[in-house]
Amino acid sequence: MNAIGKLMKIYVTRRLSQEGLKILSSSGVCDVCMWDSNQPVPREELLKGVQGAHGVLCLLSDKVDAEVLNAAGPNLKVISTLSVGYDHLDLNEIKKRGIRVGYTPDVLTDATAELTVALLLATARRLPEAMDEVKNGGWSSWTPFWMCGYGLSGSTVGVIGLGRIGMAIARRLMPFGVKRLLYSGRTEKAYAAELNGEFVPLDTLTSESDFIVVSCSLTAETQGLCDKTFFSKMKKTAILINSSRGAVVTQEDLYEALKSGQIAAAGLDVTTPEPLPTNHPLLTLKNCVVLPHIGSATYSTRGVMVALAARNLLGGLQGTEMPSELAL
Ligand code: NDP
Ligand code: DGY
Repeated sequence: MNAIGKLMKIYVTRRLSQEGLKILSSSGVCDVCMWDSNQPVPREELLKGVQGAHGVLCLLSDKVDAEVLNAAGPNLKVISTLSVGYDHLDLNEIKKRGIRVGYTPDVLTDATAELTVALLLATARRLPEAMDEVKNGGWSSWTPFWMCGYGLSGSTVGVIGLGRIGMAIARRLMPFGVKRLLYSGRTEKAYAAELNGEFVPLDTLTSESDFIVVSCSLTAETQGLCDKTFFSKMKKTAILINSSRGAVVTQEDLYEALKSGQIAAAGLDVTTPEPLPTNHPLLTLKNCVVLPHIGSATYSTRGVMVALAARNLLGGLQGTEMPSELAL
């Protein structure tokens, strides 16, 4: 309830699970308005839907900027995003208005790390291509150098952004026999010592790694980090894996690097735009494996994310503790 005893309005930008809705409605403090669809809310509908809202539960596909905040108006106390990434939120504008932000760190780390490892192995050992060969008759007989790829044993892995997910990926990769773990980022991490991780300049990581895993957040600094110059420093036999955000990679440059054989392969769970158009040049390449942003997509993880996002929203509405509040 607000100060005059009325239920507070919350706007949810996508169809949520019944469990998630129950957490919100059973709180007795809010009235839930929801874009009841599995497709993103069109911008015009979002601008209408947020009007007068005290809280907004949004997804990574909703750009929350000054226009949305102005449309919502002065009631807005909290934005809860169903994601750990918050590059879709204009934090400056949000902070200026004293609005609190909830997000979903930790609960999706294992699922995302697991998927990233699956993507790395699928890309390095050419699994989608090999499966196609079975179906299209390309499998003639066991042939010494047919369908060969690259293995992790004895390799050097470079992680760009050894945060929660980067570290969880590294922990899962080391048992495959990885010889060296390099990482780069803004600050050295004491916890990297557990895996003998070496904090190195980005150039060193780029030129010495056999596998480069991008798991940093998308910021002004990381946007377009993997570009033409970056690819020119990679080994010809190296593989790039990106499960952070599509915009960290300059896709036109990646296409050229893959097509010309400047690098061996790439596996992407994230692209620009999303969805990637089905006629996108990257999809014509055998050495590029593209997944539809499914890093955190396990039933249990998504369930926990929804519950956390709902509880964050309620905390923000009621001016109490939010289980995972982003420090602004
Ligand atoms: P963390 O905040 O724990 O890690 C982010 C890392 O990015 C930090 O280690 C940070 O390093 C690093 N970073 C920031 N700036 C730079 C830079 N300029 N160069 C290199 N590294 C940098 O977040 P999480 O690990 O929980 O999540 C990471 C990202 O993964 C999310 O922001 C999201 O975009 C993406 N994600 C994707 C998913 C998917 O489905 N594919 C699922 C979940 C998350 P430092 O500490 O030194 O600043
Ligand atoms: C995130 O949480 O940032 C992911 O991209 C989706 O889980």
